[in-house]
Formats: sequence, structure tokens, C-alpha cells
Amino acid sequence: MTFVVTESCIRCKYTDCVEVCPVDCFYEGSNFLVIHPDECIDCALCEPECPVAAIVSEDELPAGQRDFLELNAVLAEEWPNIAERKDPPPDADDWASEMDKLKYLER
Ligand code: SF4
Ligand code: F3S
Repeated sequence: MTFVVTESCIRCKYTDCVEVCPVDCFYEGSNFLVIHPDECIDCALCEPECPVAAIVSEDELPAGQRDFLELNAVLAEEWPNIAERKDPPPDADDWASEMDKLKYLER
């Protein structure tokens, strides 16, 4: 079982989540983060840290977010690790309540 970063993170990328992960299994793209499913120990510490509730357990993924399970697995192999919080994009708050952000994902 793994936790999954879903669409709400895109263009928000607050990075509060990475600070609490005991196994440092977050990976960073330019406007999104992912969790490596083979490294996540299912501890749930990161879930309440995200201001936009982007982190969801694999077995609680909403129907419209199922593709993010595979997306996290693929991108975690491509992107560099991130273990320390950094400033979010300057317009992060403007995107916090937006839906349908997958089209903005930069890979
Ligand atoms: Fe890290 Fe735990 Fe979150 Fe998995 S559930 S990404 S191990 S903090
Ligand atoms: Fe993204 Fe939330 Fe972490 S916006 S970077 S999953 S704190």
C-alpha cells in the first residue's frame, strides 16, 4: 500500500509533506510532487500536512484520480528526490481551489 499525490498538488507544490516523511520518498518535478510507491511505508504522516489535501491513500483514491497511482510510480523513477521544504510557487494560492489541473502538469 502506498500514499499517492493527486491533482490538487499541481501548481501548488507547498512541499509541507516532504518534511515529515520518515523514508524520504518524495520526488520533485517543476510543478508537482510524487511519492515512490515502492518506498512509501504507508505511515500516513504526510496526509494531514498538505494544505490542499492532495495526498490520498491508494485505497481511498477517488475514481477520477486513479490514474495518479501510475503517474506517481512512473515520475518517481524520473524525478530527483526532495526531502526539505521549499517556498511554493508565488501563485500557489491562486491554484489551490482549481480543478482539472492535469493539463498543467510539467513532465
Ligand atoms: Fe512518506 Fe509516510 Fe507519506 Fe508514505 S505515507 S509518503 S512514508 S510520510
Ligand atoms: Fe503538493 Fe501538498 Fe505536498 S501541494 S507538495 S502534496 S504539501
